[in-house]
Amino acid sequence: MILAFDTSCDDTSVSCFLDKTTYSNVISSQNEIHKKYGGIMPEVAARKHIENIAYLTKEAMLRMNASLKDIDDIAVTVGPGLLPSLLVGVSFAKGLAYANKVPISPVNHIEGHIFAPFIEYDICFPFVALVISGGHTHIFLVKSVGGYVLLGKTLDDAVGEAFDKVARLLDAGYPGGPVIDRLSKTGNPDRYNIPKGMESKNTLNFSFSGTKTFVKNLVNNASYLSISDKADIAASFQKAAVDILWKRAYEACLQTGIKRLAVSGGVSANSRLREEFAKNAEECGIELFMPKKELTTDNALMIAFAASLKHSPTFNYSSIEANPRLRIY
Ligand SMILES: Nc1ncnc2c1ncn2[C@@H]1O[C@H](COP(=O)(O)OP(=O)(O)OP(=O)(O)O)[C@@H](O)[C@H]1O
Ligand SMILES: [Mg+2]
Repeated sequence: MILAFDTSCDDTSVSCFLDKTTYSNVISSQNEIHKKYGGIMPEVAARKHIENIAYLTKEAMLRMNASLKDIDDIAVTVGPGLLPSLLVGVSFAKGLAYANKVPISPVNHIEGHIFAPFIEYDICFPFVALVISGGHTHIFLVKSVGGYVLLGKTLDDAVGEAFDKVARLLDAGYPGGPVIDRLSKTGNPDRYNIPKGMESKNTLNFSFSGTKTFVKNLVNNASYLSISDKADIAASFQKAAVDILWKRAYEACLQTGIKRLAVSGGVSANSRLREEFAKNAEECGIELFMPKKELTTDNALMIAFAASLKHSPTFNYSSIEANPRLRIY
């Protein structure tokens, strides 16, 4: 049984994992706390992780009817993420592992996202992975567990960040992704022709700065925006973002000749994206894998699962360190 922790950003999550059908996964969201700042305050996030982590660990084990003596391996996100937040999970995991003489599996948070869809599905390598989150918009060729080739990435904002910034421009609420998703349901996605960034190039990289600046100018140049105007802007932005993501993901499948696409990270919760990707993938003969909605954003279950695939537990505790800029490529 693996006990896993993810404290990479603002959510505290602990999972107790036996196999794909037998696990617990508890998540404590900090959205209400960071709402008033309009973004994540790293110092505040870390303090909340400290308050929550022991209680959540008990809860995750209780739900599996497990005690510490049942734990064979402790998995923990060591990066990338916010350093103060990562340090809480890493220190807690190391302390627990040392006291209970259990090995530790260090996990890269992005590896967790990449394999999140496969908690439900079986993996067939190689596949193309599109990771779309608050900090990443990356396309990888995944050859094996541990074998990643970067095919493309954002040159400026991550797409989740763009959703968050557009929501802030519209004064629509926090966190931005779910707010834009909800607002878009009543909006006209065809009202504004929002630029999609680097359209002429056959690239696998992304750029969201033009898309975001277009929305900024729309908002700044308007003397008044009704709720319905805001919904139209949200829907038009969302449409543009989803179109960009599909275009690059499909291009990656074409360039690699691989017709298996895994999409994960918080933005893969987006309802338009899920519909459009499912429709487009079927039309183009691509096998599409997406995690359940609750496993799109940060969670410790994906960290436990990635650790179970990696099989790299160690008793060399001093080698386990938080690294906010950790890469997998
Ligand atoms: N329904 C949605 N539509 C669009 N974006 C969404 C939706 N739900 C969440 N998001 C976005 O997903 C992001 C959070 O995702 P996630 O928790 O995977 O990212 P992160 O952990 O902050 O970043 P990273 O994984 O890169 O370190 C936020 O930017 C949020 O706005
Ligand atoms: Mg994440």
